[in-house]
Amino acid sequence: MSDSPVSHHSGIPSDKGPEKASDEQNAQMEQAYAQMRRKLRMTQLSEKIRHKIMVLSGKGGVGKSTVATGLALSLAQQGHKVGLLDIDITGPNVPKMMGLGGQGLHVEDGLIHPTVGHLGVKVISMAFLLEDEDTPVVWRGPIKLGAIQQFIADVEWGELDYLILDFPPGTSDEPLTVTQSLPDIDGIVIVTTPQDVALLDSRKSISFAKTLNVPVLGVVENMSGFTVRGKVEPNTKVELQAPGGKNVETISDEDGQWSATLDIFKQGGGKDTAEELEVPFLGALPFDPGVVRGGDDGVHRIVADPEGESALAFAKVVEALSEQLSEEDEPGINII
Ligand SMILES: Nc1ncnc2c1ncn2[C@@H]1O[C@H](COP(=O)(O)OP(=O)(O)OP(=O)(O)O)[C@@H](O)[C@H]1O
Ligand SMILES: [Mg+2]
Repeated sequence: MSDSPVSHHSGIPSDKGPEKASDEQNAQMEQAYAQMRRKLRMTQLSEKIRHKIMVLSGKGGVGKSTVATGLALSLAQQGHKVGLLDIDITGPNVPKMMGLGGQGLHVEDGLIHPTVGHLGVKVISMAFLLEDEDTPVVWRGPIKLGAIQQFIADVEWGELDYLILDFPPGTSDEPLTVTQSLPDIDGIVIVTTPQDVALLDSRKSISFAKTLNVPVLGVVENMSGFTVRGKVEPNTKVELQAPGGKNVETISDEDGQWSATLDIFKQGGGKDTAEELEVPFLGALPFDPGVVRGGDDGVHRIVADPEGESALAFAKVVEALSEQLSEEDEPGINII
């Protein structure tokens, strides 16, 4: 190979020396460089972010986004530096839940800067690409997956203790793209609801996790039971009829306060699922009407009521999750 640079002064091809690269070759080279830069950034990113956790479910609407935002906020409440990456481009759920509806992307020096939501959680959402919240994005597969890679590599997260990744439902291409792009993912949290059918869906999620080659950190049962409260005479028996005709009894305390948790669907589905599928059970989150309101008005339940039942349930899930993460390197946890 000649050590002279590519000749630019003549368009006439010569027999000697290197030929001028065609536009196509230049474009390919540019693409290869971009790919390399991205890979390098992903590796650096992986070092700056201590734990990366994916939140998945077999079917839609079980509360993935609620759980992902809840985990992020609960971890932040405990003083951790947390990022939340919303991979779902079909709707602005996460930004709404974080009180960031209507925000756009902040780009500086060629890098995307996260928007800071409740409790200092850094949020990046594909929904920030929406022109307005009511227009769904229709992207073909390759464009969408390219955008996801870019979202992962080109975001300036800074140092983080945790990055929580929220996904669209089911076994779509998105999680696969993420696991192929982002090294050292700690594992997957599977969200389920208490019904029997959820078992089937969770089974699908777990075998999907195996295909992704990522450990399952555990199962969370969402919308588990509904707590009602009231006040009567102190130390009095209170009888309630739960959905399905089951009777629930409780006794009021010395101030006359009482509370009882009613099973709306059925309880324990998530625990049974976890046991049957031999993965950890991380805990149950109650059905809380405040969660729906929080999703709508942008003040998450954990922020609105940090001592409330939902916040405490999230804290317990976070505790179980931390245990799994600290045991992660030990044999026997990785079910792959
Ligand atoms: N524990 C809960 N108590 C009450 N409502 C809840 C609870 N969890 C989720 N919801 C409500 O259920 C609906 C669906 O929740 P969410 O958007 O989190 O589900 P998802 O699994 O992310 O949905 P998708 O599959 O569309 O992404 C929302 O309106 C949310 O407010
Ligand atoms: Mg969602």
